[in-house]
Amino acid sequence: MLQTMSICLCFLSLSAGLVAAQSVASQAYTPVAGVCPNGFTLVRMAGSPGHQSLSASEAAYVQARRSQVIPQAWKTYLANVEATKVALPSYVSSILNGSSCETPSFGIATSGGGYRAAIFGAGVLNALDGRNVSSNSAGIGGLLQAATYIAGLSGGSWFLTSLAQANFPTMQELVFGFPNPIVANNSWGGWNAEYSIDAPSSNPVTVTEYLINLIEELEGKYRAGYPVTFADFWSRTLARHFVNGTFSSNFFDESYTHGAGILWSSVAETESFASYAIPFPIIVSDLSAPGENTSNIVSGDYIPTSNPIFEFNVFEMGSFDPMLSAFAPTKYLGTTNNSVCVTNYDQSSLVAGSSSELFNTFNLTSTLGDALTLLNSLLPDSGIEHDVASWPNPFYGIAPETFLSSNQMVLKLVDGGEDGENIPVQPLLVKARGLDTILAIDASGDVHNFANGSALIATQDRITLLSPAYSFPPVPTSPGEFIAQNLSTRPTFFGCNTASASDTTPLLIYLANGGPPHNGQTPVTNISTFQLSSSSSTTQAMLDQIFMIATQGYPANSSMTTDPEWPACLACAIVDRARERAGETRSGVCESCFARYCWSGSTLGINATQDVIGQAIVHSFHRGWFSTLVGMAVGLCILGIDLI
Ligand SMILES: *[C@@H]1O[C@H](CO)[C@@H](O)[C@H](O)[C@H]1NC(C)=O
Ligand SMILES: *[C@@H]1O[C@H](CO)[C@@H](O)[C@H](O)[C@H]1NC(C)=O
Ligand SMILES: *[C@@H]1O[C@H](CO)[C@@H](O)[C@H](O)[C@H]1NC(C)=O
Ligand SMILES: *[C@@H]1O[C@H](CO)[C@@H](O)[C@H](O)[C@H]1NC(C)=O
Ligand SMILES: *[C@@H]1O[C@H](CO)[C@@H](O)[C@H](O)[C@H]1NC(C)=O
Ligand SMILES: *[C@@H]1O[C@H](CO)[C@@H](O)[C@H](O)[C@H]1NC(C)=O
Ligand SMILES: *[C@@H]1O[C@H](CO)[C@@H](O)[C@H](O)[C@H]1NC(C)=O
Ligand SMILES: *[C@@H]1O[C@H](CO)[C@@H](O)[C@H](O)[C@H]1NC(C)=O
Ligand SMILES: *[C@@H]1O[C@H](CO)[C@@H](O)[C@H](O)[C@H]1NC(C)=O
Ligand SMILES: *[C@@H]1O[C@H](CO)[C@@H](O)[C@H](O)[C@H]1NC(C)=O
Ligand SMILES: *[C@@H]1O[C@H](CO)[C@@H](O)[C@H](O)[C@H]1NC(C)=O
Ligand SMILES: *[C@@H]1O[C@H](CO)[C@@H](O)[C@H](O)[C@H]1NC(C)=O
Repeated sequence: MLQTMSICLCFLSLSAGLVAAQSVASQAYTPVAGVCPNGFTLVRMAGSPGHQSLSASEAAYVQARRSQVIPQAWKTYLANVEATKVALPSYVSSILNGSSCETPSFGIATSGGGYRAAIFGAGVLNALDGRNVSSNSAGIGGLLQAATYIAGLSGGSWFLTSLAQANFPTMQELVFGFPNPIVANNSWGGWNAEYSIDAPSSNPVTVTEYLINLIEELEGKYRAGYPVTFADFWSRTLARHFVNGTFSSNFFDESYTHGAGILWSSVAETESFASYAIPFPIIVSDLSAPGENTSNIVSGDYIPTSNPIFEFNVFEMGSFDPMLSAFAPTKYLGTTNNSVCVTNYDQSSLVAGSSSELFNTFNLTSTLGDALTLLNSLLPDSGIEHDVASWPNPFYGIAPETFLSSNQMVLKLVDGGEDGENIPVQPLLVKARGLDTILAIDASGDVHNFANGSALIATQDRITLLSPAYSFPPVPTSPGEFIAQNLSTRPTFFGCNTASASDTTPLLIYLANGGPPHNGQTPVTNISTFQLSSSSSTTQAMLDQIFMIATQGYPANSSMTTDPEWPACLACAIVDRARERAGETRSGVCESCFARYCWSGSTLGINATQDVIGQAIVHSFHRGWFSTLVGMAVGLCILGIDLI
């Protein structure tokens, strides 16, 4: 009753606000319709599996990066590995120094899991970053610079959108901002993680004004006739943390745009992207659709694995999955035909917001009801579903036999981890992208906010379902196996041995946040997914412990805390597919490395069908995060009573 009343009060006061001049952020967030460029084509069909094509822009980017940047990056990385003084087989050196006819092709996927996952991704990539001397001394620095692709979803999308749009700063600069920054609409101010995403002040008046400002920032888009949902509200909160333009000193200052108007397509204009210095970034989101086949929902998850997975890259958005295999230009998202072209829809914050939109996963009547009622009253209903991210469907009428949303006016996108595949490996398995080694970084919050391998199992199940479109190496069939064999507390290689030299299954390097480092430190990396702020000291402590986790390897025996051969072993995995293509035999330290790091498929006597631990914990990480947000929306209204 109290909440119902407060919603009415909020509505009245905000309606008055909405007739006043729009905020600068509201204007910058509003899509713009105009005449399409000559020869414009909205949809690109990408071909059938096995014969798929990349966009011309992506192909050109990758080709330029592979010829102008990556060869030197492999040499720099090799020098760091060699400096660890572990003798490498000569094929490892010749593949990395460019004197072999074969070169490796490497991609990185970084998982969801809120701030924990964003920080874990940043921490692992810091350990692989050739700009960090500690990483170089640890023998794994430089690998980040040699990657062709990098994908992120949910918390990993917060990390990746911020990294790409901020012009590929170092990870310390990404997380904490630059020292003495220039406070401006279009410069980078760090994650501002000490300000909570939901309630960024201890002063309730400040918080209320802040939340009302966020809603007012949606006004322009709403009035221009585009679908506005809770994801847009979410997008405007995320923008303060993961998009240019917000600093400690202007956090509440509405004369700034706070990331509104900074587009995902405009990453192409950053200096690092224009010089091919950054791995090609891809953000993953799941489709929710009427008529989806619910018998393909992984137990405890929400979206069937048979739904197409969508990606946003800087040039295109769409899906390589065989049910659709079509793309539309990112810059013109919002467009639905070839005559009227919409721009300014692909806000970076909405891309991250779509990848982390999990408001559909709960019973709206009992939980999200208040927040939705609020939005509905502020933005009177036009039949729009408010608990998903809405993107006008560029694929209307495409593939009606196989594409679930072919007859839908809007695409309903939700958190990229909702099908259980919490690591965005899917776009890296596209054969046209030709990756032979994938680093899967997993900071899922499965048990005690540590990962237990569920994400890889879900991917394995989906690849089986979509066979033969993709190839994926065998992984265990139950989290119990991951846990019993410690596969998530040490780096593990999957798919070490291919069926034949023509087998294009990639080798998977799995590096999880599965427990504390081997050196006996108390764990600090398993913060809850619903922890929506982190002090600088906590964040730094996490980054430092993640550095240990990423550099420790898998010690040969329990009397050691780090493996001095880990840098060499990682290099062995990186080059192994290229070695096979070159017709070389695995040898030297690489043989003992593979014996130690590869998953053999053995279950070590553990019964794979017995997976009982934590069965009762049905995605508590999702639920926890969600209730915080519900609290935020409800709190906004309740606070409104006191203030107005
Ligand atoms: C590359 O490595 C191979 C094997 O160690 C070595 O024989 C060759 O001289 C190296 N080439 C260059 C250009 O460093
Ligand atoms: C964000 O700010 C950084 C400088 O802090 C700049 O280099 C980059 O180009 C900006 N990004 C975009 C998309 O404008
Ligand atoms: C930020 O952008 C807004 C809208 O364009 C503009 O009014 C304001 O002056 C800008 N602020 C700065 C510091 O550039
Ligand atoms: C739904 O999926 C199940 C399991 O994959 C399959 O057996 C069934 O035929 C599918 N139903 C439809 C209508 O496609
Ligand atoms: C194209 O889409 C716009 C909406 O963006 C609509 O107003 C217009 O009527 C459409 N044109 C055609 C030819 O369908
Ligand atoms: C959702 O919650 C409402 C109110 O608690 C309840 O009446 C309804 O049965 C629930 N719906 C589902 C599908 O669980
Ligand atoms: C982190 O892990 C430790 C050890 O498993 C556990 O005791 C602690 O409760 C976990 N912390 C959180 C916030 O889940
Ligand atoms: C897993 O790790 C635990 C604790 O370090 C150890 O006791 C156990 O032997 C390990 N199991 C395997 C299969 O390596
Ligand atoms: C390198 O990484 C370490 C470990 O997290 C960190 O303390 C240090 O600040 C980093 N250096 C730079 C230049 O980013
Ligand atoms: C552990 O392994 C290291 C390196 O192989 C070796 O030097 C040491 O003797 C081993 N310790 C035990 C107790 O086996
Ligand atoms: C594994 O568990 C299944 C189901 O509980 C049981 O039927 C089977 O006998 C078990 N196998 C072993 C080797 O314990
Ligand atoms: C693994 O995590 C999932 C949640 O993602 C949970 O449902 C399952 O019980 C866990 N299994 C084990 C063995 O920890």
